[in-house]
Amino acid sequence: MTRRKLAAGNWKMNGLATAGVELEALIEATRGAAAEVLICPPATLIAAFAAKARGSAVAIGGQDCHAAPGGAHTGDLAAEMLADAGASHVIVGHSERRADHGERDAQVRAKAGAAWRAGLTAIVCVGETEAERDAGRAQEIVGGQLAGSIPDGATAVNLVVAYEPVWAIGTGRTASLDDIAEMHDFLRARLVARFGPATGEAVRLLYGGSVKPGNAGEIFAVSNVDGGLVGGASLKADDFAAIVKAAG
Ligand code: 13P
Repeated sequence: MTRRKLAAGNWKMNGLATAGVELEALIEATRGAAAEVLICPPATLIAAFAAKARGSAVAIGGQDCHAAPGGAHTGDLAAEMLADAGASHVIVGHSERRADHGERDAQVRAKAGAAWRAGLTAIVCVGETEAERDAGRAQEIVGGQLAGSIPDGATAVNLVVAYEPVWAIGTGRTASLDDIAEMHDFLRARLVARFGPATGEAVRLLYGGSVKPGNAGEIFAVSNVDGGLVGGASLKADDFAAIVKAAG
């Protein structure tokens, strides 16, 4: 099974209109890239970025969506709105949303379903805290999140799963290559068990947490790692282009 690698950048709450220069540089640097490239800027930039990136190797995504297609939800964005603005993907269930907004698996699952309703690919995030790993519960926690956060009907096109150990996000610490392999093999087995071998083997599994140009190559070479979900190192075109290259 060959899965095309995906290098996805999550800009989180970073980026003003002036950051368009980074997108332009990234578009230049990734022409003809072997890997798929995605940037998820703050929602304020999606439409402008999608317009700039049209026809390039760079796809544009959202960082969250509401489960409903519309209605009285002040401050929220429907998946349909992200699609309308030019997004092709949306991240759901990021650990920062789970922590800052109390999002639970059922809500994440509804958001992933909303993404599919709008024709978007859902990037469903899972990951254990340091205390959970220290207690030997990493697989139990991540397995539970995986089961609870993905609706029925997943395909290799509509779903990407991102494993992001919470303690590795923004800390400069990455999980060991052995720990990444163990978790990704576990996630692959769970996907195959639930969705069958054709889909389960084809869904991409990204690693996230302090991925940088200097460690991306070795991480992307790990068993069942099909790319990365990159925070800080996706903000600068040079760094992210190097990560895209490592994924090729
Ligand atoms: P960092 O790459 O900054 O550790 O962030 C990872 C992340 O949370 C991506 O979604």
